Amino acid sequence: MRRSKLVVNCQPLIIPHLQKEVEDLGYRILRKDRTGLTVEGGWKEVMHLNMNLRSASKVLWLIKSFEANSPDALYKEAKKIPWHKLIPKDGFISIQSFVKNDHILDTRFANLKLKDAIVDKMQEENGFRPDSGKERDRTVLYLYWYLNKVYVYFDTSGETISKHGYRKIPFKAPMLESLASACLTAADWNDQKGTFINPMCGSGTLAIEAALMAAGIPPGWKRKNFGFMHINGYDPSLWKEEVAKVEPNLKIKSTIIASDWNGDALKAAEANAKLAGVNHIINFERCSFEKTFVPSGKGVVMLNPEYGERLGDEGPLQQVYSEIGDFFKQSCKGKVGYIFTGNLSLAKKIGLRPKRRIEFMNAKIDCRLLEYELYEGSRKK
Ligand SMILES: C[S@@+](CC[C@H](N)C(=O)[O-])C[C@H]1O[C@@H](n2cnc3c(N)ncnc32)[C@H](O)[C@@H]1O
Repeated sequence: MRRSKLVVNCQPLIIPHLQKEVEDLGYRILRKDRTGLTVEGGWKEVMHLNMNLRSASKVLWLIKSFEANSPDALYKEAKKIPWHKLIPKDGFISIQSFVKNDHILDTRFANLKLKDAIVDKMQEENGFRPDSGKERDRTVLYLYWYLNKVYVYFDTSGETISKHGYRKIPFKAPMLESLASACLTAADWNDQKGTFINPMCGSGTLAIEAALMAAGIPPGWKRKNFGFMHINGYDPSLWKEEVAKVEPNLKIKSTIIASDWNGDALKAAEANAKLAGVNHIINFERCSFEKTFVPSGKGVVMLNPEYGERLGDEGPLQQVYSEIGDFFKQSCKGKVGYIFTGNLSLAKKIGLRPKRRIEFMNAKIDCRLLEYELYEGSRKK
């Protein structure tokens, strides 16, 4: 594969935070869409992005773009691609797509047409057809077909990179790792910014993401399989170099605290942190959120309370949100407080005026990360 357009994809509304990440990694953004950023690159960049991106879900590598106004035209154009040079001879392919046009009613049919073009071409050139199926652990392709414009990509991530590999015990309603990481970027937290406190930590995602960031451990470091490893031309020594660049530093400047009143949640959080290699730099406490130890000085307090997705859940939660407001006012002076919630009427019970309301989606729920400046003394002073 030669240098080409790379599209970094993310969940809806993560784009501004992903943009910051991509720019901080030194890339120039050529195009920005609702859920994707386009940069340019080849093998090195594909590996670098898959290794380092915390809030992305996949990295696509453009193979070819063309026009097609029917399934047969898609097949014909796609079959011109030298698939036998790109995909391992004894390979296995999996195809995903986004299709929006009048030529196709069922995206599965578009996938089938692309698959036929690939396997027919490989049959002609190699003498046999690769297998295909849903498993994303080998060569993964992504078809984007909007009106008449077709883009065919390798999904160089394979399995999504929005999961960071450490959460083996999920506990209740865990945040997706890429979402938790985007919340930290949105809060502009890093190891220089003081304490990170995560009461109601559940399975620990926010605290673990903070610890990984502080220790300079990228999410791809321990991962053994990516889609790009199943594209012809993959050079394992290049990936080895990328892995060797990582120099974790567990002597972090900040203090990271995670607490939950539920013993099973804490057990899950500690086990997950251990798997991520950061259990020694997180202070775990079993306690009700308002009893969480809050060191003096600057820092961030971030909570993701339950937000009552089922009818009737909201009543008892009103009290919880109002107590979170008291906790902020009484115990967290000098910090910046954040609540991640999918219920804005519950958030009103906090009784403080948010300085920023940062939009997110969690699964299909409209959410906000609400930011509260928790002044020492009165604001006038
Ligand atoms: C939505 S979950 C947090 C999920 C977490 N962000 C994750 O990624 O796993 C909310 C957590 O708050 C905890 N919790 C609820 N009420 C609490 C309270 N009063 N004190 C401490 N923890 C509480 C629950 O045990 C649960 O683990």
